[in-house]
Amino acid sequence: MFKSLISINDLSTEEIRKIMELAAKVKARPQEVRDALEGHIFGFIFEKPSTRTWVSFQAGIYSMGGGAIYLGPEDIKLGIREEVRDVARVLSRYLSGVVMRTFSHWTITEFQDYFEKPVINGLSDLEHPCQALADYMTLYEKIPADKDPVLAFVGDGNNVLHSLMLVAAKLGAKIHYATPKKYEPKPKLLALARQIAKKTGAVIEGFSDPAEAVKDADAVYTDVWVSMGEEAMRQKKLKDFKGMQVNKELLKNAKKDALVMHCLPAHRGEEITNDVMESKNCVVFDEAENRLHIQKAILLYLFNQGAIQ
Ligand code: CP
Ligand code: NVA
Repeated sequence: MFKSLISINDLSTEEIRKIMELAAKVKARPQEVRDALEGHIFGFIFEKPSTRTWVSFQAGIYSMGGGAIYLGPEDIKLGIREEVRDVARVLSRYLSGVVMRTFSHWTITEFQDYFEKPVINGLSDLEHPCQALADYMTLYEKIPADKDPVLAFVGDGNNVLHSLMLVAAKLGAKIHYATPKKYEPKPKLLALARQIAKKTGAVIEGFSDPAEAVKDADAVYTDVWVSMGEEAMRQKKLKDFKGMQVNKELLKNAKKDALVMHCLPAHRGEEITNDVMESKNCVVFDEAENRLHIQKAILLYLFNQGAIQ
């Protein structure tokens, strides 16, 4: 039976820990997994642009002896030239797995229903699971999990926050968030995270005031205000997110030397200021680097768990 990673909820707490352990091993000893994906060819079905997700997955696959084919929006015109389910059944016969970046989460689940191999969500409107795993890997490299760091997210209750909340819930971690009204996390995702948190002891707290959300936080995280596909809403969102910027003033409420995190790309002057991006506690490029190690670990977990001891 194959496994996919479409939502963080596809993974148990133990599986998340295992993927993070694998990522630490491949980061320390990449040479040991040089041939781990030999004979595997992967497809990248991307409806939106990408720097980190695409390049880190592709570089990771090549570095482990596998191959990859990029299929951008103009190449297969998923759901336009041909129905999603037909493309899935065809590609199932050529590829070992796919990474998908789509506008609608439905496209990924529909594809998975007809693709007889693993599907990895490389960002949808609902979740960004690979990002959240790399972020928690980064957080725990800087502040070990047994110190119980508080992560405070300030911004849009969107795909990135959803996946961060679910990782926090699964790991029994503490996450605070502040979003403007009407941009709270989706009730279904929040209910799921809270239900998991009941079992693990995780703390998930929402605020409307960003200063309260970041109070005594160990790390402050933000994401763009205008996500890919929302360009027409730009002016409205810039207005609605006023007061949600991660800047020096806001960081005064967090712990001294709190880490600053961002999934990138960043829009300096909007959700984050230039000086905060360039500050010494800003770990955004460590997060970006860890995307590579976590993607390799995800692939090893799905395709060759015994490749590294
Ligand atoms: N953070 C992230 O997913 O970056 P890309 O959009 O460049 O892949
Ligand atoms: N929320 C952003 C994340 C980019 C990695 C978007 O969906 O565009």
